[in-house]
Amino acid sequence: MNRTYFDNAATTSLDPAVLEAMMPYLTEKFGNPSSIYSYGRESRLAIENARKSVAKILNAHPAEIFFTSGGTESSNTAITAAVKNLGCRHIISSRIEHHATSHTIEYLHKKGEAALSYVKLLPDGHIDLEDLELLLKESEDKCLVTLMHANNEIGNLLNINAVGELCTKYNAIFHSDTVQTVGHYPFDLRKTPVHFITGASHKFHGPKGVGLLYINESVHIEPFIHGGSQERNMRAGTENLYGIVGFAKALEIATNNYEADSKHVASIKNYMGDQLKAHIKGVEFNGDAFGNSLYAVLNVSFPKTEKSEMILFNLDISGICASGGSACTSGVDQGSHVIRAIKNNPNQVAVRFSFSKHNTKDEVDFVVDKLTGMI
Ligand SMILES: Cc1ncc(COP(=O)(O)O)c(C=O)c1O
Repeated sequence: MNRTYFDNAATTSLDPAVLEAMMPYLTEKFGNPSSIYSYGRESRLAIENARKSVAKILNAHPAEIFFTSGGTESSNTAITAAVKNLGCRHIISSRIEHHATSHTIEYLHKKGEAALSYVKLLPDGHIDLEDLELLLKESEDKCLVTLMHANNEIGNLLNINAVGELCTKYNAIFHSDTVQTVGHYPFDLRKTPVHFITGASHKFHGPKGVGLLYINESVHIEPFIHGGSQERNMRAGTENLYGIVGFAKALEIATNNYEADSKHVASIKNYMGDQLKAHIKGVEFNGDAFGNSLYAVLNVSFPKTEKSEMILFNLDISGICASGGSACTSGVDQGSHVIRAIKNNPNQVAVRFSFSKHNTKDEVDFVVDKLTGMI
């Protein structure tokens, strides 16, 4: 059975050109980057070239770029360091963050390390910047603001510059989970008032298990993982050499093809929106779906019926990969904390469809046809 993959916000397929760039480091170029003989030096050079390439694309300094195991580790590192090393005793975040952020801040709060406040959300799921300013203004402690750049479930995009300026005004540290935007949008970190951002290459056709942590040169934190002197003493352990090479290659390809790819993916999203509206009564779109939103994510609420409750399961039977709030497709999942935070309508079932450069309008027609039969 042919599969229709509409879950690209969860992960993407590996680009063959990325695999090709990685292959030598999975085979003959196996030296430990810390070894001083030529095998090792070759590996070290590959890592440092990857770092330079990533830094150049994001307009950062190579010394601000750290490679990690993924978005989760990067956010854990940044948030924990802000509290433990940078004196942030008050964390301001939102109810719609990824669990890599929300579970980290809840943990720190529970352990008594920091107070925790949640900024208000507007009806379309955007962050209420006035409320954010109020929280910052009234805080007696130094704040860490952690707000994601793009929401992985509903696609809403944050005005990262506006938040960064507020953080600068109130001397707060700003971390943004940019896992859904690095490799999808251009960045100019020299001009962006942010202390930490994160990335994961499997979201833009790179390998899994390799991530990015950008640490602005103005902040100095202690290592999160102790041991050897890798990543300039910040993250011990032999580097994921082929992963790092793959990360840089995937980012390079995504950047070179940004105009054409983003336009294509946006056209697929808009087409799916139009087709759903035309064929299924009662569909609604969650978040600011056709406004300030990721071009790759469309979150749809269907009227709840006996059939639609099993929608992910039924889509899977037709070879269609999409996702709900959690990875659970059994029909008894607890739904999404994001959808609950913005609307919480018990008579609807929410499904996230997320697209890549490989998707076509024919696939949309196929999926809408199956959905029409199911609802
Ligand atoms: C917004 C966001 N943050 C963090 C992560 C975690 O990234 P990783 O699985 O690479 O650790 C993801 C991936 O699911 C994500 O979508």
